[in-house]
Amino acid sequence: MSISADVELQDAGRRLILHAAGQRHEFAALWLRERAPDATTLDTRTGQRLIEASQLPLTLHVESASFDAQTLHVCFSDGHVTAYALDELLDDAAPDNADIASGLSLWDAELETLPQATFDAALEDDGALLAMLEDLHRYGFVKVSGVPCEEDGMQPLIDRIGPLRRTNWGGIADVKSVANAYDLTMTQRGLEPHTDNPYRDPIPGYIWLHCLSNAAAGGDSTLTDGFMAAQRLKAEAPEDFDCLARLSTQFRYTDATTDLESEGPLIELDSQGRLARVRYSNRTERIAAHDAALLERYYAARQRFYRLITDEALTVHLKLGPGDMLIMDNYRLLHGRTAYQLEGGVRHLRQGYVDRDSTASRRRVLGAQLAENAQHGASHTAQGVTP
Ligand SMILES: [Fe+2]
Repeated sequence: MSISADVELQDAGRRLILHAAGQRHEFAALWLRERAPDATTLDTRTGQRLIEASQLPLTLHVESASFDAQTLHVCFSDGHVTAYALDELLDDAAPDNADIASGLSLWDAELETLPQATFDAALEDDGALLAMLEDLHRYGFVKVSGVPCEEDGMQPLIDRIGPLRRTNWGGIADVKSVANAYDLTMTQRGLEPHTDNPYRDPIPGYIWLHCLSNAAAGGDSTLTDGFMAAQRLKAEAPEDFDCLARLSTQFRYTDATTDLESEGPLIELDSQGRLARVRYSNRTERIAAHDAALLERYYAARQRFYRLITDEALTVHLKLGPGDMLIMDNYRLLHGRTAYQLEGGVRHLRQGYVDRDSTASRRRVLGAQLAENAQHGASHTAQGVTP
């Protein structure tokens, strides 16, 4: 599709203004120069930068710019001449002031249909795997059915996505009640909504929670969309939201052989001000002894956030049965469980972690591959019917 666009220079060429499809986009001359899509600036095979961007003169400016159809031609003050495809430039243009990254659907207790996948289909069919990864990205979780009821039953599906993240607890580890539990997870008590392991660096990206048996009374899983809770907090009490987004708190885990600590805010924003992750772990939070006024501010904000993440209106309940598995985004969802009583039967779950970068990479690459295959298929079909 052809886009009509105009270009003008401002600030003696230090800024280039693009007017396209009714929108105004401003580009710094230095940004355009370091991103110049040509073989002397970027390696053609890897796309990685060949010039040292930090050595570009800070006075660099655009000498001239003009459009030729859908291509922007630019001549810089260092003598470099290059050309940009308009659609690619617009893709890179500064996004609007959204709170939430595009492609996410926030939810609450009204969520009508749980995102679901089938283990065998995701294992054998790339389209089903992509659908599962896209649901996981959009909703922050997916319920997978038909996982083999074996100790490491989830492993073949993990192998389709990325490496299992090993921790001091091993690879795929038990979640069941034991005597002398090293973590409250391994007891029969209920667990308040939390994110896992904010004392690690990096924090595990996705939790894979596989049910082998759940015959005990109780032990239901709860899920809350932390981004929805954060968005509600921002609407209800913007000063509380700001407090939780600005003040880092500490988290710590210790046992006989391990001493882990890390820190970060309960609500973390990305460089564009969008929600990037939530942390909440009452069991392991150890905030520093800041001055009392700051702590009082923080405690009030945290209490309001806690009321939201435990609000039934935001909570989805489900009970995992044998062969069910939840995959959860540990940077977005809070999960918990109701207490259970073992007199009623056995409760045995297994849990593993998979990183975010490898999961996102798999989704993007598989999406591009399947789109390309579909395009080839369509062009073959079109050729087939052309007389
Ligand atoms: Fe957990």
